[in-house]
Amino acid sequence: MRCIAITNQKGGSGKTTTAVNLAAALGEKKRRVLVMDLDPQCSATSWFGIKNTDKGIFRAFVENGNVIDIISQTNVPNVEVVPASPWLVGAEKALAGEVGAETILRRQVRNLPTDRWEYLLIDCPPALGILTVNALAAAGEVLVPVEAHVLALEGLAQLLQTIDVVKERLNPELTICGILVCRVDRRTRHAQEVVEQLQSRFGELVYKTVIRENVRLAECPSFGKPITLYDSRSYGAQDYRALAVEIIRQERGRE
Ligand SMILES: Nc1ncnc2c1ncn2[C@@H]1O[C@H](COP(=O)(O)OP(=O)(O)OP(=O)(O)O)[C@@H](O)[C@H]1O
Ligand SMILES: [Mg+2]
Repeated sequence: MRCIAITNQKGGSGKTTTAVNLAAALGEKKRRVLVMDLDPQCSATSWFGIKNTDKGIFRAFVENGNVIDIISQTNVPNVEVVPASPWLVGAEKALAGEVGAETILRRQVRNLPTDRWEYLLIDCPPALGILTVNALAAAGEVLVPVEAHVLALEGLAQLLQTIDVVKERLNPELTICGILVCRVDRRTRHAQEVVEQLQSRFGELVYKTVIRENVRLAECPSFGKPITLYDSRSYGAQDYRALAVEIIRQERGRE
């Protein structure tokens, strides 16, 4: 099972949109995916139409609950979800002073029956706090979505530094699987400049696939569907399918 944390501490960079729609696109290709929502805003959870989450993943952090008991089914083929809940707002405080708090999720993930899924995608909150550190400690890889509207190099440097610290202290195996440029508006020169700057700074780490600005992507959470089910022929669906192909291709030559 590939465990990929989808992280960027900048708000609104496309993390949740990527977690949900990449999961659906992989599911469409018969890959089994578990999406874990670590954001107290619960955006991914509600996007999948999951209600009555009780305390969700919070139980695993604070009450010794097991992730396996919290998994919800979805209407999306091959996709299951570990829901978040607003209780997560209190995770930072509840875990302060707790020995080993940064590696709670790592222990949980190791206890999962890993042959049940090909992918675990973790949707992180927009902060570099205890929840994101837990995701980075548990994951094998990090996928970083960046918004093409803004040049996010400074924020990226901070994120890369955090990833390095986590690698050094908690998870030496952690790698970056890729940087994904989101919300690309082909009509403006600026978006292209952002892509070029990222490519010249990070080279091969930048996914060839870019996610175009597509209003259908912004609409679908209200309908509780991923883009592949909401509008299968939209640019958004095409782009996330292309990303799924690129992610699967990364596995060639491994193992
Ligand atoms: N390719 C796209 N085209 C159009 N709108 C998009 C696209 N990607 C994301 N959005 C919109 O941008 C906003 C932010 O996206 P999203 O919620 O995925 O970011 P996020 O990084 O998860 O945000 P947060 O940090 O708050 O969790 C949302 O309103 C979403 O609908
Ligand atoms: Mg989000």
